[in-house]
Amino acid sequence: MKAKAILETIVYGEDIKSLRHFYETILGLEVRRELEEQFVFLHCGEGMLLVFNPLKSEVKPRSFTSAPPHGAQGPGHVCFSASAHELDAWRKRLADHGIVIEADFEWPGGGRSIYCRDPAGNSVEFAEPRIWGLPRRSLRNQKLVVASHNPGKIKEINELLGPYGVEAVSAGSLGLPEPEETGTTFEANAQLKSEAAAKGSGLVALADDSGLCVDVLDGDPGIYSARWAGPTKDFALAMRNVEEKMQAAGAAAPEQRRAHFVSVLSVAWPDGHVENFEGQVHGSLVWPPRGKRGFGYDPMFLPDGRSETFGEMDPDAKHQISHRAVAFRKLVDALF
Ligand code: IMP
Repeated sequence: MKAKAILETIVYGEDIKSLRHFYETILGLEVRRELEEQFVFLHCGEGMLLVFNPLKSEVKPRSFTSAPPHGAQGPGHVCFSASAHELDAWRKRLADHGIVIEADFEWPGGGRSIYCRDPAGNSVEFAEPRIWGLPRRSLRNQKLVVASHNPGKIKEINELLGPYGVEAVSAGSLGLPEPEETGTTFEANAQLKSEAAAKGSGLVALADDSGLCVDVLDGDPGIYSARWAGPTKDFALAMRNVEEKMQAAGAAAPEQRRAHFVSVLSVAWPDGHVENFEGQVHGSLVWPPRGKRGFGYDPMFLPDGRSETFGEMDPDAKHQISHRAVAFRKLVDALF
């Protein structure tokens, strides 16, 4: 017999409130239970991170549990799994919260780790699983359900992932319903679609969500990009709507007309594991729209450093630099 997975990892610290802020707000873990000044329990992937105040846990609790006392003084250590590109994102996020990166290096046997400290001084590491020779999740030679009813998307994904032995089938062909997009971010909407398809099919599922974000409109139309075109999917109307709102905001010069496309690809496994990949392409919006190629807001979007809009550009040239291409490169890097 062999123990098969680690269910709990424990770190200790006396200030549970500041530790909760670090692990919940900065690292994004979900709090499952908290007893002020005593512990906070957080869900992480397929396990739990338990944070205990050692002054409380080293004495036998008076009630509600017959668990023996435990405790530790001095710094402990926890390591979170991260893919190569996630490590860069973690570096930035930690720095944005004023957290010092204590170390960032490649191990001689392969794989990178970064280290910082939680508010109690525990050593917190983010590392690629391959530092232990552990496999990453792979999509190679898998059957994948694409959470879309759009045959064009299925074809594009089959072309992109076919060379890796991936066979993509549509959620529509499996009779899966389309969930309502109730999220407030691209990531939330992509993930609710991938999770619903994985749950409904028992297969690994891929979903995407994308849109155009205009700086002077505070990110609009954003997650509502498709909806701005109305029930008839009239993008001439949607583009005119964007232009009228920009003119009302006084955005005339190119630097006042900054915008970017965002694409989030979400991969969900039937066991609940999810990985999301985001790509962006930045540029400015022109008026009137130029070009008849592409789709959606393409004729308005002039990518930085180019003289042609996405609507004028050769489709292959767009596919080299688009938000979707950037997200796909990250997905392929992490999962193949
Ligand atoms: P989704 O199908 O919910 O991701 O809707 C995305 C919407 O964003 C599309 O209907 C388009 O209006 C817009 N959009 C996303 N990507 C592009 C692009 O590459 N070019 C033009 N419009 C895009």
